[in-house]
Amino acid sequence: MIYLDSAATTFQKPPAVAAAMRDALLTMSSPGRGGHPAAMRAADIAFQCRSELAELFGVGNPERVVFTENATHGLNIAIKSLVPPGGRAVVSGYEHNAVTRPLKALEAKIDVATAPLFHPDAVTVAFEQHVKPGVDAVICNHISNVFGFIQPVEEIAALCRERGVPFIIDASQSAGVLPLNMDRLGAAFIAMPGHKGLYGPQGTGVLLCGENVTAKTLLEGGTGSLSIQQEMPDFLPDRLEAGTHNMPGISGLLAGVKYVRQRGMQNILDRERRLALLAAEGMRTIDGVRVFALSGLRDQAGVLSFAPKYKDVEEIGSGLAEKGIAVRSGLHCAPFAHRSAGTLDTGTVRLSFSDFNTPVEVYRFLSVLQGVLR
Ligand code: ALA
Repeated sequence: MIYLDSAATTFQKPPAVAAAMRDALLTMSSPGRGGHPAAMRAADIAFQCRSELAELFGVGNPERVVFTENATHGLNIAIKSLVPPGGRAVVSGYEHNAVTRPLKALEAKIDVATAPLFHPDAVTVAFEQHVKPGVDAVICNHISNVFGFIQPVEEIAALCRERGVPFIIDASQSAGVLPLNMDRLGAAFIAMPGHKGLYGPQGTGVLLCGENVTAKTLLEGGTGSLSIQQEMPDFLPDRLEAGTHNMPGISGLLAGVKYVRQRGMQNILDRERRLALLAAEGMRTIDGVRVFALSGLRDQAGVLSFAPKYKDVEEIGSGLAEKGIAVRSGLHCAPFAHRSAGTLDTGTVRLSFSDFNTPVEVYRFLSVLQGVLR
């Protein structure tokens, strides 16, 4: 299989990830649940993982690195900590349902800072217009999961700091490929999956918590700390980590994060962008395809959407799958993004790259696509 669906999950992982997961099953019990060697080993690995993540993302204290099940879980905690029922949030025009559905469930008023694709300056201007007193939270993804559009989170963070509004960053597509410094940005929360650009397994996610935010619990239960007390602890990470930890997942995530740090995020980004550019340039020479990219892939990471002019996106997705090429077609759980790009009625076919793809795979994709379009 040629796997071009890493925006959903990076299917190809560094071999150390599976080895670490196996080791966890064979040697670890639960962190904070005993002083015996199996519990201590689990506690040590969990702490190492928090520490690596804290260093990678500029979090002053590893205790503000919270393990979640996925990015959606972290976003739910972040949003429900800051936006009360009926509250008000400003979001970019490229958000995922992981942001907009929790807001809908809260019956929040959602102001969309609308801007055209690949125009970061227009995004900043739109947020400047919408971020006003009375806004409970500003939420923006760093990279659009549909179009790979890199959004100007540094500028939006500065605006939020200036206007005193909490900022939540959805780093689902950027964690592991673009630099992010939590404490310098002054973000309230940054949510990310462990299983995409950090190369951990599915079922892992991370929520970075700002220094002065009070997080609300989404789940209450045992934490291995303050057991006599019936309220959840008020300190992190325990406050947000009720129940038994996913130690095979956390061990795999630690191996993934170490891989990313050794390999270098810039090297990974460069590789993914080179492949996306090769695909974009190749598709431009094919009749019947509209490619969503500016020349040189300006303001775009290694995620690329295209729309067939004469066929349905699902037909293209299944045609490619039949020939062993994995992509994702449709709306990608992100109707807001498709509305902003004018593709809500048709959807797109999305290619998304990882550090394990090669130019040969892109050439094969281009050749198969021509057949599928016929
Ligand atoms: N949000 C992920 C995607 O875009 C699952 O495919």
